[in-house]
Amino acid sequence: MCGIVGYIGRREATPLLIQGLKRLEYRGYDSFGIATVGSDIDLFKKRGRISESESGAVTLHGSVGIGHTRWATHGEPNDVNAHPHTDCTGRLALVHNGVIENYIELKKQLLERGHTFRSETDTEVIVHLLEEQYTGDLLEAVRKTVPFLKGSYAILAVSAHDDRIVAARDASPLVLGIGDGELFAASDMTPLLEHTERIVFLEDGDIAEITPEGVQVYHEGEKVEREIELVNWCVEDAKKGGFAHFMLKEIFEQPQAFYETIRVGVDDAVRKVIRSAEEITLVACGTSYHTALIFKYLAEPLCNIPIRVELGSEFKYYPPPLRGLVIAVTQSGETADTMAALKMAKAHNCPTFAITNVQGSTVTRIADTTLMMRAGPEISVAATKSYIAQLAALMQIVNIRCDGAFDDMLAHAHLAIDEVLLQDMADAVALCRTAEHVFFVGRGPFYPVSLEGALKMKEISYIHAEGYAAGELKHGPFALLTPETPVVAVCPPGATYPVMVSNIKEMKARRAPIIALGVKGDSELEEIVDIFIPIPDTHPMVQVLTTSVVLQLLSYHTACALQCDIDKPRNLAKSVTVE
Ligand code: F6R
Repeated sequence: MCGIVGYIGRREATPLLIQGLKRLEYRGYDSFGIATVGSDIDLFKKRGRISESESGAVTLHGSVGIGHTRWATHGEPNDVNAHPHTDCTGRLALVHNGVIENYIELKKQLLERGHTFRSETDTEVIVHLLEEQYTGDLLEAVRKTVPFLKGSYAILAVSAHDDRIVAARDASPLVLGIGDGELFAASDMTPLLEHTERIVFLEDGDIAEITPEGVQVYHEGEKVEREIELVNWCVEDAKKGGFAHFMLKEIFEQPQAFYETIRVGVDDAVRKVIRSAEEITLVACGTSYHTALIFKYLAEPLCNIPIRVELGSEFKYYPPPLRGLVIAVTQSGETADTMAALKMAKAHNCPTFAITNVQGSTVTRIADTTLMMRAGPEISVAATKSYIAQLAALMQIVNIRCDGAFDDMLAHAHLAIDEVLLQDMADAVALCRTAEHVFFVGRGPFYPVSLEGALKMKEISYIHAEGYAAGELKHGPFALLTPETPVVAVCPPGATYPVMVSNIKEMKARRAPIIALGVKGDSELEEIVDIFIPIPDTHPMVQVLTTSVVLQLLSYHTACALQCDIDKPRNLAKSVTVE
């Protein structure tokens, strides 16, 4: 939610900030703005996304600057609510990612003390508080301001006549990139990759004074050293590389994401924690929740341990019994609800474990043990390769519990994913693109695969889609089936195949057109459905992967046919750092 970026060095800041904001747009794109520092603060801010507007029109000069791309929480997306925000004197400017929960109370007090507010944002209170504390020393002013703030923040502040940026974070991500005579700050690593591989991950409660020469970090008033880490993501991974959309590129990177996650494997610490778990609770949101559900279906019968799967957003208010190993599944490592749940588990002395794609992310700081997925940067808002890499990590856990029984299958699964990437989807797309509603059904692990198929369809094509356990349709949703309501049925061989076939026949009897995913050569299924999409005949765990990828492609091509904004669906942001 919202991306922030800062630059200080010898170069003109504006083009670097704009380039950085473009890389961060997947975090929010309701408005953007930048401020550069000279004898005054120069400001440019605008509603809408940066790529749509004339970025060449931003002609601010200076070698110190901050920028912001917004996912609106408080106040509608417009020019005034866009960041950076300035104080009443115009000497101070600030960008913020997070939510200031006590802003109404702070705003009331500031108004009483004579401040004039221009925007409806929670952020503006910070810059007015800063103004009250500012006596020429920006670092000191930020230090005195942050104790007033309740909620989450990553802040970059600048003041006129001052060659430094002051950064602060609490419960919102902020990383620094150390270059040669120049420094960068950003919400995540993606804008930094083309400039440096030397990254500092700030901790909650840190305040950093950033100059072209280096950075000094303070924590609870004391100087602290934060390690410079080398990142292994490559800048090319964060570019579109000839694909029409990041989403398609990332779909095609899935064999690699799966293979790499399996190849790198797990360390002894991970192995030990997984082997000793007697009960597992997984906590996650959205797509990650679906991978956690798939894990439950796969692992419970094979590993013979009780597994619970909880939504991060429910956990905090309606916690399950807190015992056993608690695993947070989160590609970004920043989802606020998942973080809150993990912190709660930790407070109850549960061992905590994270599965994430982002080195140094918040979840890695909270969890006792981390298993990294190796998907590389995922730019499209809709998760694809991070989903597959999560499944790789979760399947590794199953494999550890089963003493390596799936070594061979996991080592070759990427080849099957590769086989479905060029699947012809034209007929299925023709059916879906005109539909108002589409159902996705499956049984066992293919039920959460269907939930995920429906989520992808909703989020990028804006077609209403519902995922259901196939047997549940007749308990209500059957009332909605018509010849205009396609049903996508995930129907590989196995114990549930005969009953899936019966379910499909029941749906056909209600004249719903059926798109079925089944193994190559399944003529029985092919004959009874309208459109048959073949998947390779593999181990059932691999079918979870191949069917998921086919459903991603169905959503992608449907959204393309409808000319939707695929990489940046409306109202969404990649990293949801508010409750
Ligand atoms: C959908 C999607 C979201 C995320 C969810 C959790 O395509 O990406 O549903 O899965 O916001 O995000 P993470 O995994 O970063 O915790």
